[in-house]
Amino acid sequence: MSAYKIIDHTYDVVVVGAGGAGLRATLGAAQAGLKTACVTKVFPTRSHTVAAQGGISASLGNMGEDDWRWHMYDTVKGADWLGDQDAIEYLCRNAVDAVYELEHWGVPFSRTEDGKIYQRAFGGMTKNYGQSPQQRTCAAADRTGHAILHTLYGQCVKNKVQFFIEYFALDLIMEDGRCRGFTAWCLEDGSIHRFRAHEVILATGGYGRAYFSCTSAHTCTGDGNAMVLRAGLPLQDMEFVQFHPTGIYGAGCLITEGVRGEGGYLTNKNGERFMERYAPSVKDLASRDVVSRAMTMEIREGRGCGPHGEWIHLHIDHLDPKIVHERLPGISESAKIFANVDVTKEPIPVLPTVHYNMGGIPTNYHGEVLTKAGDNPDSVVPGLMAIGEAACVSVHGANRLGSNSLTDLVVFGRAAGLRVAETVKAGERHADLPKDSAEAALARFDRIRHAKGGTPTAQLRLQMQRTMQSNCAVYRTGDVLKEGVEKIEKVFAGSSDIGVTDRTLIWNSDLMESLEYDNLISQAVVTMTSAENRKESRGAHAREDYADRNDKEWMKHTLAWIDDKGAVKIDYRPVHEYTMTNDIEYIAPKARVY
Ligand code: FUM
Repeated sequence: MSAYKIIDHTYDVVVVGAGGAGLRATLGAAQAGLKTACVTKVFPTRSHTVAAQGGISASLGNMGEDDWRWHMYDTVKGADWLGDQDAIEYLCRNAVDAVYELEHWGVPFSRTEDGKIYQRAFGGMTKNYGQSPQQRTCAAADRTGHAILHTLYGQCVKNKVQFFIEYFALDLIMEDGRCRGFTAWCLEDGSIHRFRAHEVILATGGYGRAYFSCTSAHTCTGDGNAMVLRAGLPLQDMEFVQFHPTGIYGAGCLITEGVRGEGGYLTNKNGERFMERYAPSVKDLASRDVVSRAMTMEIREGRGCGPHGEWIHLHIDHLDPKIVHERLPGISESAKIFANVDVTKEPIPVLPTVHYNMGGIPTNYHGEVLTKAGDNPDSVVPGLMAIGEAACVSVHGANRLGSNSLTDLVVFGRAAGLRVAETVKAGERHADLPKDSAEAALARFDRIRHAKGGTPTAQLRLQMQRTMQSNCAVYRTGDVLKEGVEKIEKVFAGSSDIGVTDRTLIWNSDLMESLEYDNLISQAVVTMTSAENRKESRGAHAREDYADRNDKEWMKHTLAWIDDKGAVKIDYRPVHEYTMTNDIEYIAPKARVY
């Protein structure tokens, strides 16, 4: 290990990840006069936010009256009452300012005839507490994430933020329960780095790649989540994995929900608009969990399309091609490339595909990481924050509404920037790091780098992805989940036989993928175990053996820890059944009617 020369860096704040949340937090910290760095595995504008299509929700009211309280009601209901209502209030009331801020920084939003930001309909977004669909999703055609990411990067460059690009974060440095920094590997020249900071902000995204078919980029391996697990801290609500109804059959690429917001609809092999049966009032614009389950049911009952009934048809061939060209250019291109479909003439073959992780690192609405310490379920971990898909604030609860993700990124990225401006004093002296602060991280790095086992990483990864896909899917049963736990534990155990062939340090993709696999497998074990443990159906967690939501026993967040042998410990945190201010009352659980 002494072979590794460590390059040290000291900052007030270091953000890990350069997607929408990471860049927004970086910008906030830099503008507050703090010495700030952003460390990222990929070039900032290649972060997965670039793939967000349909838009960002905010009650601007450009397409008719709107109110942040209506947005809050929809988000609480969409979350199936597992969301923390203080955090949801924070999200919805700050969304409007966050969007105008983006507009003023230069995001090229699509426009209405009178020049306002264009807003489209998205699933679960309603007016007047569920009365009728609401156009609340602010769009830049169907490339909204792309537009936001490029604008935020430009603002960071303007504010002279220091970037460390193509650095792979390895492990947190913890001392007496406080985060003091982290270690990282520079992919370009192979050097090892140690970052010391008063606050480390993890904005490392989700872990969609634990599954075989997902809309997530190959880089979405939940590196920050895994660092948190290795630091002996819990992840929250990992059983809630969102399937987006419309991934392109076979390729898994996203076809935005904005398609249905613009009037698109789903049909089965009989040409029937089946959503009318499952959600008579909102139909194709029901929330994603509902639409994904309905599609799965149609396929299971033999009404799927295609030679073997394996997909569903998504139509926009009835829409004016001019509108399609103007508002949905990105998906028109994706459908042509990945399904050879001209969307103006024929339907797109689609299938529910893993899209988003509601679970992640527990935080409060300032972005501070929480753990359960003794009787305190909301104990703040000093020096550590998390935002974006990596975090579980929890505003999405058991199911996220489409277009609330970009809102989450910028609202809580901004909140984290505001928080560090309050809590960190620029230039404040850092205590010395413990002598062995990088040792555990480098021991793991070295073990994987020199692994001589007989199972290639790709083989283990495929076993993990197939297990997650088949045993932790849209519908779940106790037997299938129990089998899933056994199978995924076996994959975890098999990881001790991992074989890495390339021992070099410069752009070693074999090593990088092995580190990513190692990150994914612990999250996969925690996800499967948490899903087996929760004996109710709520949001994206649909158990056929426990078909109903059970507020009496299960209105609580799951916390899950894992040790280095793969053993999972489960505990719970109460859901925040209170709001942030008196401007809105707590929204009590209701039966779900669509
Ligand atoms: O369908 C979409 O455009 C995805 C948006 C989201 O996940 O928020």
